[in-house]
Amino acid sequence: MTIVNRDLLMKNMSKEQDFPLTFEEWEQQAAENMLPGGFGYASTGAGRGETEKRNAEAFSKWAIVPRILQDVSTVDMSVKLFGRSYKTPFFLAPIGVQVLAYEEAERATAKAAAVMEIPLIVSTVSTCSLEEIAEAVPSAPKWFQLYFSSVHPELSYSMVERAEKSGYEAIVITVDTVMAGWREQDIRSGFSPLALGYGKGNYVNDPVFMKSLPNHDQESVIASIFENIQHPNLTWKDIAEVKKRTSLPVLIKGILHPEDAKIAVEYGVDGIIVSNHGGRQLDGVIASIDALPEIVEAVKGQIPILLDSGVRRGIDAVKALALGAAGVLIGRPFLYGLAAAGQKGVEKVLERFIQETEVSLALSGMADLKQISKLKMVRQ
Ligand SMILES: Cc1cc2nc3c(=O)[nH]c(=O)nc-3n(C[C@H](O)[C@H](O)[C@H](O)COP(=O)(O)O)c2cc1C
Repeated sequence: MTIVNRDLLMKNMSKEQDFPLTFEEWEQQAAENMLPGGFGYASTGAGRGETEKRNAEAFSKWAIVPRILQDVSTVDMSVKLFGRSYKTPFFLAPIGVQVLAYEEAERATAKAAAVMEIPLIVSTVSTCSLEEIAEAVPSAPKWFQLYFSSVHPELSYSMVERAEKSGYEAIVITVDTVMAGWREQDIRSGFSPLALGYGKGNYVNDPVFMKSLPNHDQESVIASIFENIQHPNLTWKDIAEVKKRTSLPVLIKGILHPEDAKIAVEYGVDGIIVSNHGGRQLDGVIASIDALPEIVEAVKGQIPILLDSGVRRGIDAVKALALGAAGVLIGRPFLYGLAAAGQKGVEKVLERFIQETEVSLALSGMADLKQISKLKMVRQ
């Protein structure tokens, strides 16, 4: 991949000005386009917002010690995961209820991800069903994120089976959501996208879910989604059971403690996503970038480790990769791109992530991402 910012700087400047540039500018545009309840839901953290703030600040405390006089005229950003090559280390984080940002919701995001060749992780609480999304981008790489249902484990297995049938390539089980976090903004505004039915796509298209309902009116559907989405008694045994029921790689999202990472390896989990859910779950927890080094040390390269929470620009991704992440999930930035300008907005956000990452790798003296563990990082 040649360094693309030359084009950006020389040819295309006027067109670029039609779009926001920084995360803060995209967020501002999203705030203008979204309804206040939806924007509050998407943008705030749990509790007093300590972790949400810490996520972003923590990246600034890690500094790169670059190398010079390497030939960086081309940069190879490709990564290999679970036997498949990807052009970049980026993934789109599972974000539910995307209709809050844009009417076409996950379908628009999926199309943008396909254009940019970035895999998409589809949430359990998507507005559209996983099948509709797969139909919109049949050949694009996609993973499915599962909120395990403890009350109806069969529902979870059914969703996993549907994902496998529809061409999804991995299952991500989110485990930091045993119940919803203490989200004061939503309490204040009385806003719940699930209560409004915005996250029902995967439920109402599931035969096990529909069969379990006393009747099929909206009220029963919503009540049952609330019942199924929380999983306070989820344990490693359930993870092992999901592993048994699918031939797809299974990743766990929401690990912050190195001991949990070790247990994941013991249970045969195929990958880990270090994440604190963007500060939306337990407030006061460690920034995910700060949790990463110890987890990398504990896992000893046995399974790939990905990271999200607070990744706002290409240089953040470079830091995460240098600290041992095999891939990086982009969350709120793409959601704001979707709210600002639909599919094109998501494409622009992703394009800039890719471009800034390329430039940053080159300026760090890293022509090949496979060598990134050699990049020296210090705490400042
Ligand atoms: C509005 C919103 C909805 C989300 N929905 C889900 C979800 O359905 N499943 C999930 O595993 N994570 C969900 N997440 C968490 C993201 O996958 C990711 O961990 C988080 O956005 C990372 O933080 P950042 O966006 O601040 O970088 C959601 C995040 C946001 C902002």
